[in-house]
Amino acid sequence: MGILKRKKSSIELFSSPKAMRLTVALGSIFMAATLFFAFGCEQKAGIRPSSAASEQKAAAVATVTAPELTDAQCVLCHPQQPKTIDASGGKHKTDVGCTDCHEEHPPQGEQGIPQCSMCHSDHAHYELEQCSSCHSDTHAPLDLTIEGEITGPCLTCHQQQGDEVAKHPSAHTDLACNECHATTHKKIPDCMECHEKHTKDMDFASCVSCHPVHMPLVVTYSDKTPSNYCGACHDEAVSLLEANKTKHHDLACVYCHRNKHKTVPPCFACHGKPHPDSMLKRFPECGNCHGTAHDLKG
Ligand code: HEC
Ligand code: HEC
Ligand code: HEC
Ligand code: HEC
Ligand code: HEC
Ligand code: HEC
Ligand code: HEC
Ligand code: HEC
Ligand code: HEC
Ligand code: HEC
Ligand code: HEC
Ligand code: HEC
Repeated sequence: MGILKRKKSSIELFSSPKAMRLTVALGSIFMAATLFFAFGCEQKAGIRPSSAASEQKAAAVATVTAPELTDAQCVLCHPQQPKTIDASGGKHKTDVGCTDCHEEHPPQGEQGIPQCSMCHSDHAHYELEQCSSCHSDTHAPLDLTIEGEITGPCLTCHQQQGDEVAKHPSAHTDLACNECHATTHKKIPDCMECHEKHTKDMDFASCVSCHPVHMPLVVTYSDKTPSNYCGACHDEAVSLLEANKTKHHDLACVYCHRNKHKTVPPCFACHGKPHPDSMLKRFPECGNCHGTAHDLKG
């Protein structure tokens, strides 16, 4: 990513080779600008009052060769863009200058506005249409507009999440990425913006401890999960165990139903062979004598 076809890293004051030349039409305004820059630093009060001599000199130079326009001069006629770049230019401030992008200036040249592909290529992201639909101001390249329903463009950088929603179909697969990650890049939504909790004591962390959000029907959980979470949907199991007088009473749901929702362990997973073979041959079902795991008879 970020491989540049062409990259200039420094702004050379007053000698940028690619800078455009202004025509005679713009020449006189331009020379005033140049003079402002040449002498302005000594004259704190503002534009140096022009003397007859310097006006003549300016006119003479302008009619012979128009000097190259430099980055420092743009601000004289375009106050807004330098201000934006200064505040939020990011790498468009530090890694390139005005004339790296604006190679020509009207009316001298028509290529005043650069294509992004001049510098950004060789990655799926740079093949997208309409860069400006998200990067709405090139002078503030990371002030993004994330509007409409967007999925494909996100996947140019987040393939993994795209694969998760595609390979594990759920109602979330039908949502655009930014229906949840709305308005600003990297924003994480709270589940409760759209859903009710199963139990009052749940929070965002508990939701995602059971539901990986991009594949919410693949429910897994840790051995710390409290039994009342399960009880939100399985109240019968909870009440049977609560009433039970055997040692199963003390066990958490997830101690037996481990890791993955709907796992049901066989009794022998924990008890091996607790009775002689002869007995188990006659009564193959543990439940014949012990009832169920929740309503165990000891
Ligand atoms: C002396 C005043 C002046 C200076 C200095 C100046 N510009 Fe301009 N610029 C103009 C004017 C006037 C226009 C409008 C020209 C037109 O529409 O034909 C313009 C237009 C532009 C445009 C629009 C081009 C387009 O095709 O729509 C860009 C981009 C631009 N300038 C960039 C720059 C940059 C970068 C610099 C500094 C390197 C700069 N200008 C310096 C006066 C100036
Ligand atoms: C990374 C490339 C890039 C840099 C650096 C850059 N510009 Fe631009 N500029 C653009 C593009 C692209 C546009 C067309 C509008 C847009 O997409 O924001 C533009 C538009 C303009 C315009 C035309 C007005 C408009 O909004 O359409 C002016 C003037 C201008 N830039 C001046 C400057 C000045 C001055 C600098 C340096 C302080 C500068 N730009 C730095 C890419 C750049
Ligand atoms: C003259 C070369 C040039 C042009 C044209 C250009 N860029 Fe860049 N851009 C750069 C460089 C250099 C960087 C920093 C290195 C990198 O990230 O690849 C950069 C970085 C960026 C960044 C990341 C900014 C940051 O601070 O991390 C964005 C976003 C971006 N460009 C978008 C665009 C868009 C959109 C366009 C077209 C409207 C565009 N660029 C045109 C040179 C350019
Ligand atoms: C659907 C919105 C969208 C579109 C369309 C879009 N981008 Fe981006 N772009 C982003 C987002 C989001 C980022 C990540 C910003 C961040 O990291 O904060 C980004 C980051 C970038 C970056 C800097 C990160 C990097 O390392 O690559 C560049 C450069 C860039 N985009 C260029 C472009 C260009 C060129 C186009 C058009 C061909 C374009 N983008 C189209 C949303 C978009
Ligand atoms: C040009 C590449 C690029 C594009 C396009 C892009 N992202 Fe990102 N995204 C990033 C980068 C880089 C990060 C930071 C990753 C990190 O911190 O590990 C990120 C982080 C995120 C995060 C995580 C924030 C966190 O707290 O971990 C979310 C959510 C996100 N992006 C959503 C999206 C969505 C939705 C889209 C489409 C609208 C999108 N991204 C488009 C590059 C991109
Ligand atoms: C139903 C809402 C929702 C949808 C739809 C959604 N996400 Fe997320 N996404 C989230 C939440 C919530 C998190 C935080 C998860 C966490 O902390 O465990 C997240 C986290 C992320 C992250 C950070 C890394 C990670 O995996 O935790 C990225 C990147 C991301 N999402 C990108 C996407 C992309 C790309 C899409 C579209 C294919 C998408 N998301 C669709 C809600 C959603
Ligand atoms: C922007 C809204 C939004 C956010 C945020 C969101 N969801 Fe959803 N989710 C939906 C919609 C819409 C559906 C489908 C209708 C429904 O079941 O309510 C859905 C369905 C589900 C389903 C059932 C899936 C199916 O296919 O039956 C689960 C589970 C789920 N969400 C969990 C979560 C969790 C956990 C979070 C937070 C990590 C979350 N959701 C965040 C909108 C959202
Ligand atoms: C202990 C694990 C667990 C926790 C914690 C959990 N869920 Fe669930 N959730 C499930 C199970 C299991 C289902 C049922 C899945 C099925 O039908 O196969 C479910 C179903 C859902 C559904 C689908 C509609 C429904 O009610 O059946 C939504 C929406 C949902 N959960 C959202 C959430 C939200 C929001 C949170 C956090 C407040 C959350 N879940 C916390 C396990 C959990
Ligand atoms: C949001 C509701 C919800 C939550 C929370 C929930 N389940 Fe379920 N559970 C269901 C549904 C729905 C089924 C399917 C019932 C059916 O198929 O008749 C189910 C089925 C089961 C089954 C039976 C599988 C089978 O083959 O009969 C077990 C075991 C189970 N859940 C254990 C748990 C455990 C343990 C927890 C807590 C970690 C939990 N459940 C949390 C909704 C939930
Ligand atoms: C995930 C492991 C696990 C599973 C599966 C399991 N048990 Fe247990 N069972 C235990 C533990 C732990 C104890 C307590 C042992 C102790 O403290 O000595 C126990 C105790 C018992 C006891 C003695 C109760 C008492 O109060 O002395 C019986 C009888 C029993 N289990 C039968 C069963 C039967 C029948 C099944 C299948 C329906 C079953 N168990 C499934 C873990 C399990
Ligand atoms: C000692 C291990 C153990 C514990 C603790 C346990 N279960 Fe079970 N559960 C089982 C076994 C074994 C089955 C299979 C039916 C049987 O043989 O009793 C089962 C069956 C289920 C079923 C399938 C339908 C049914 O009710 O038979 C659900 C749902 C369930 N358990 C939920 C829970 C919940 C919720 C908890 C916590 C309140 C829990 N279980 C605690 C072992 C356990
Ligand atoms: C014919 C009735 C019968 C069947 C069938 C049966 N048990 Fe038992 N089980 C008992 C009796 C009676 C006891 C208590 C007397 C004892 O300790 O031997 C007992 C005790 C136990 C104990 C507690 C042992 C201890 O050391 O405290 C466990 C665990 C157990 N059974 C598990 C099982 C499992 C698992 C199965 C199925 C493979 C099973 N039983 C089948 C009658 C049965």
